[in-house]
Amino acid sequence: MGNWKLNDIRWDDFDRSLLDPEIVTVVKAASMVEYHSKDYAEYLCSVFAGDTEFCNAAVEWGQEEIQHGKALRQYAELADPNFDFDSTFDRFVSNHDIQTDANESIRGSRCSELVARCIVEVGTSAYYSALRDSTSEPVLRQICKNIAADEFRHYKLFYSTMKKYQKSEKVGFISRLITATSRLAEAQDDELGYAYYCASGSTGPYVRSENINAYAKRVFPLYRYEHVKRGLGMTMKAVGVKPQSHVGKVVTFVGWSAFQRYARHLEKKAA
Ligand SMILES: [Fe+2]
Ligand SMILES: [Fe+2]
Repeated sequence: MGNWKLNDIRWDDFDRSLLDPEIVTVVKAASMVEYHSKDYAEYLCSVFAGDTEFCNAAVEWGQEEIQHGKALRQYAELADPNFDFDSTFDRFVSNHDIQTDANESIRGSRCSELVARCIVEVGTSAYYSALRDSTSEPVLRQICKNIAADEFRHYKLFYSTMKKYQKSEKVGFISRLITATSRLAEAQDDELGYAYYCASGSTGPYVRSENINAYAKRVFPLYRYEHVKRGLGMTMKAVGVKPQSHVGKVVTFVGWSAFQRYARHLEKKAA
């Protein structure tokens, strides 16, 4: 499983003076979402029943995602000794059941399922790269470096398998574009917002938009141009657009401008 273990992290390098409490809340939320991946691996094995090679890879993928959750949990507990992962995770999961016994993908085809998985890995690889590059706390940097490398590898697994199914299922550009766009839109769904709400220890009523905005407000400023550019390039590859083509360059320009506008909008709202 993977190329690193929890013991490989040099936990003794932890420097509390470089800690940003707001980032610790974001790390707590990420630890729960990652830890929840076991159910996604079961779902993938149901959808890809009969494809033993991919099922085995999906099981290994799920174990790596759980390790991400464990590393982030350990970091959050180090940073905040009062953090009770088990009860916070129970609270999170009680509102986020994942169907694990599906016979077919909720995306309509195996190829589309894999396009959606590519988009998730685009998001996570960009996120951990941005977190790695924006923090000076050495342990968080190590953890994010290791996780980001895994997430890029996960993208490659889903992308190469998607290409195989794209040929056999004959899923075209428009269909892949719709799947990618809808999965991107789902990044605004409840999962991260609710994880952030649980991680912040809030006991008040859950207001979806408030929590999603609060989460985004802390995370968006971490991204630099190179993170967004790489993520857009990986997204385009998944739908069949060459990032270096004229269209690809226009998408990168428009995407980065839209990203910056949204980040400024969140900043204004927060002010
Ligand atoms: Fe992960
Ligand atoms: Fe991943």
